[in-house]
Amino acid sequence: MKKILITGGLGYIGSHTVVALLDAGYQAIVVDNLSNSDKEVLNRIKELTGKQVSFYQVDIRDRAGLNHVFRKETCDCVIHFAGLKSLEESIYKPWEYYDNNVGGTLTLIDVMREYGCKNMIFSSSAAVYGTPEQLPITEECPKGERMNPYAQTKSMQEQILMDIQKADPDWNVVLLRYFNPIGAHKSGLLGEDPQGIPNNLLPYITQVAIGKLPYLKIFGNDYDTPDGTGIRDYIHVLDLANGHLKALSRIQANCGCEVFNLGTGTGYSVLEMVHYFEQACGKKIPYQIEPRRLGDVAACFADPSKAKRLLGWEAQNGVLEMCKDAWRWQNKNPNGYKK
Ligand code: NAD
Ligand code: WQD
Repeated sequence: MKKILITGGLGYIGSHTVVALLDAGYQAIVVDNLSNSDKEVLNRIKELTGKQVSFYQVDIRDRAGLNHVFRKETCDCVIHFAGLKSLEESIYKPWEYYDNNVGGTLTLIDVMREYGCKNMIFSSSAAVYGTPEQLPITEECPKGERMNPYAQTKSMQEQILMDIQKADPDWNVVLLRYFNPIGAHKSGLLGEDPQGIPNNLLPYITQVAIGKLPYLKIFGNDYDTPDGTGIRDYIHVLDLANGHLKALSRIQANCGCEVFNLGTGTGYSVLEMVHYFEQACGKKIPYQIEPRRLGDVAACFADPSKAKRLLGWEAQNGVLEMCKDAWRWQNKNPNGYKK
C-alpha cells in the first residue's frame, strides 16, 4: 500500500496528515475543491517535506472529475476528509450539508468501487454521540438523538460505509471519531485557517491573543462541572495525523469495518484552556461569560483505550504543547494562508 488519495487534503487535518504520509514514504494524491482551503498549503507541504503531491481541484460530488482522477492514479486507499464541518451552519443550511457530506460520499464510494479501490479511512466525529450517555465515551456508547444536521451527516456516512462493507467484505473501512482537534504543525507553517469569525474555541482564543477579536465569549459557567464551564477532550492535530497512519496499517491487515475514538481521554474546561493558552502566549486573554450556546453538552471526553489496544496509537502531546503550537501558527500567520 503506497499510493493514498486524500480528499480534503488541503484542509486543517488533511494537510497535517498529508505531511505525515509523505514523511512516512507514502505517495499522496490530493483532491480538494478549495471551498475551505488555500492552494498555498501545497507550497507549505513542499517546504516541509521536500516532496510534491499530485493535486486535483475536484469536488467529490463531481463524478466525471473523480473518474478522471481515478483513471490517472491507481490508489490503494482513500482517506476521506472532504466535507463541511460547522455544527451551527448546518442548522441553517441542512441541504448543503446533506448534499456535500452524504451526497459527496456516495459518489466517492461509487467511483472507488468502479476502479476497484475498496479501502477507506473516514473522518467521523465525537459529534455523533450527541449528549453522551456515559463518560468517558467508548465506541459502544449509543449515538445521540438530538443531533444537528452536521452530526447526522457524520452518522449517516458511517452507516453507509458500514453497510457497504457488510455487503461486500472486500472493503476495509476505518471510522475515526475525532474529539476536539487543535494545535498546529511544530514549524508554524501549517495550521487552522477558519474563514470569518471562528466557531471553535481555540481559533477564537488565538484571534483574541493576536488582537483580531476583542475578547472571548465563554458560553455558560453554570454547567455541572468543577468550574461551571464546558469540558472537552482536546487532541493535537499531529496526533490525529499519526492516528491515520496507524489506521492504514489496520486496513492493510484487512480489518473489515472498525470504529475508533481519537482523543486523549482527558477533558479540560474552557477556563482551564484559557489559562493554558495564557501560559503559552504570555498574554492575558480577556473574556466575558455569556449564556450557554444552544446544543452544547456539559462534558465530552473519550475513552481512547480501543485505539491504543488495536491501533497501537496514543496521543503524545499535552494541552500546553497544543496551545503553544496553535499560538506559534497564529503568530507567524496572522492572516492564515493569505499573504
Ligand atoms: P477543513 O474544512 O479544514 O477541511 C476540509 C477540506 O475539504 C477543505 O480543504 C475543503 O476545501 C474540502 N472540501 C469540502 N467539501 C468538499 C467537496 N465537496 N469536494 C472536495 N473537497 C471538499 O476541515 P477539517 O477540520 O480539516 O476537517 C476534516 C474532516 O474531519 C471533516 O470531514 C470534518 O467534518 C471532520 N472532523 C473535523 C473536526 C474538527 O473539529 N476540525 C472534528 C471532527 C471531525
Ligand atoms: C468547545 C467548548 C463551548 C467557542 C464541535 C464538535 C466536534 C468538533 C469540534 C467537528 C464548548 C466553548 C466555544 C467560544 C466558548 N467538530 N466555547 N466560546 O462544540 O465541543 O465540538 O466542534 O466534528 O466534534 O462536536 O467545539 O470548540 O466549538 O467548543 O465558550 O467562542 O468551548 O461552549 O464548551 P465543540 P468548540
